[in-house]
Amino acid sequence: MDKLRLLYLIPIILLATILLATDFSNNDEANTTSAETAERTGDFDKMMLALTHPRCLNCHPSDHKPKQGMDQHPHYFGIARGEADHGFIATKCNTCHQDENDDFSGVPGAPHWGLAPSTMNWEGLSKTEIATSMMDRTRNGGKSPNEILKHLTEDALVLWAWDPGIDVDGNTRETPPISKEEYIAAVKGWFAGGAVIPQE
Ligand code: HEC
Ligand code: HEC
Repeated sequence: MDKLRLLYLIPIILLATILLATDFSNNDEANTTSAETAERTGDFDKMMLALTHPRCLNCHPSDHKPKQGMDQHPHYFGIARGEADHGFIATKCNTCHQDENDDFSGVPGAPHWGLAPSTMNWEGLSKTEIATSMMDRTRNGGKSPNEILKHLTEDALVLWAWDPGIDVDGNTRETPPISKEEYIAAVKGWFAGGAVIPQE
């Protein structure tokens, strides 16, 4: 063999080495698995667009005070968590908040208006922490996965976020950046996929 022929062989040997070193079957499997995981937790990413929106967070704060508006300023009149999270007698939430929005006075409303219990605080939590907390019976009000699914897709306070009425300044309150239908589909998709807790 002359020197020139040897040179021709180098790329062929290199290619063969690469092909042998690559385990295609294994790679394919890994790809499918991560794609599936991404699809499952992708539904939770969509849910996060609502869960972390002020329309939800204003009632799921990390302190004991409901918040107002897109800038999440503390509630007027120093309203704070009271007995059973529905306000002290003098400031009972339903003194002002009725079963539906009052677009003349700007007071939002929906049935059983109240502040979420402190175990359901989500403000400042990561998606992993929110998902974990939401599915934890010791923190979610003793709800089973099915009850959480129902709450997320049917509860009056949850659905209010897509019909939040007009504020005291006469402006229509902003809704979460995902439609109610897409959000509900994402919730159902996440539960159908086994409610896999998303990792950061
Ligand atoms: C004295 C009347 C009054 C009481 C009592 C009251 N609220 Fe309000 N609340 C209002 C008014 C008025 C607004 C509208 C403010 C605005 O549009 O800027 C409001 C707005 C809110 C909002 C803002 C919604 C949003 O996403 O912007 C939340 C949350 C809220 N109240 C929760 C509560 C909770 C929980 C309680 C009981 C612990 C309560 N409120 C008690 C009058 C009251
Ligand atoms: C007016 C206040 C208010 C608003 C707005 C609100 N919630 Fe809640 N949330 C509550 C209260 C009160 C509870 C506890 C009582 C109950 O179970 O109904 C609760 C409980 C929950 C629970 C039960 C489990 C847990 O650990 O948190 C979920 C899930 C939930 N809310 C989701 C949402 C979502 C999603 C939104 C927005 C799309 C939202 N909430 C908006 C007041 C509110």
